[in-house]
Amino acid sequence: MDNNKSYTVSETKDVEMFFHGYAADFDSIYGHTKKRSAWDKFLDKYFRRSMRLRYNLVLKYAANTNIETILDVGCGGGVYCEALLNMGKTLTGLDIADGMLKLAEQKTKRFMAESKVNYIHSGYIEHTFAEEFDTAVLVGFFDYIKSPLEIFEKLKTEVNKELLMSFPKSGGFLGWQRKIRYRMRNCPLYYYSKSDLESMFAKVGWQNKAEIIDIDRDFFVRVIL
Ligand SMILES: C[S@@+](CC[C@H](N)C(=O)[O-])C[C@H]1O[C@@H](n2cnc3c(N)ncnc32)[C@H](O)[C@@H]1O
Repeated sequence: MDNNKSYTVSETKDVEMFFHGYAADFDSIYGHTKKRSAWDKFLDKYFRRSMRLRYNLVLKYAANTNIETILDVGCGGGVYCEALLNMGKTLTGLDIADGMLKLAEQKTKRFMAESKVNYIHSGYIEHTFAEEFDTAVLVGFFDYIKSPLEIFEKLKTEVNKELLMSFPKSGGFLGWQRKIRYRMRNCPLYYYSKSDLESMFAKVGWQNKAEIIDIDRDFFVRVIL
């Protein structure tokens, strides 16, 4: 077990280093910052439809007026934080990569001044929260997680209304292309089938609470707690 743990910690370090260096490029996928190459534009058009779909779903579900406080786990460059803050929510963004958090802070300066958002530089498992949240958003996060069950058990203790999460699907051209690209840069990557998700959700008692929505390259999951 200890071996498994130290492996996970070193993997987490690899993810941190990868995203610290990749921050500006990743952020530019959303199209409002750095100039995109022709190849990137091609990928955006044909393969990154899932990113738009999951973004729309998060905004749709989070619009519920019962939801006031949101934890964004793996908040990255803060695209979701900014949109949710604009909807009047109170945000906590957590990310393991400092370069990502700097971008998030730049985007949401005015909300930081109003104490509507705070950022935490940490791995999710490593951080203990003093408060509970209405909702947690975990988008583009489980791609890098070796032990999702550990994350689910922690979320159960910190979130009381709902979870909005994405899981990348196994297979397909982009899946393989991406896996090779990430492996070359030492970043682990995990994919999921629908039955993987169903069996994990059964283990944490969410079999009747999780709605799994097929959105192209991802599964989008909403869990009502
Ligand atoms: C693909 S980005 C997604 C960012 C954002 N959620 C979005 O969809 O625009 C994944 C983010 O998860 C962060 N991350 C990965 N593993 C993490 C961990 N164990 N704890 C905290 N953050 C993590 C990475 O640093 C990165 O910023």
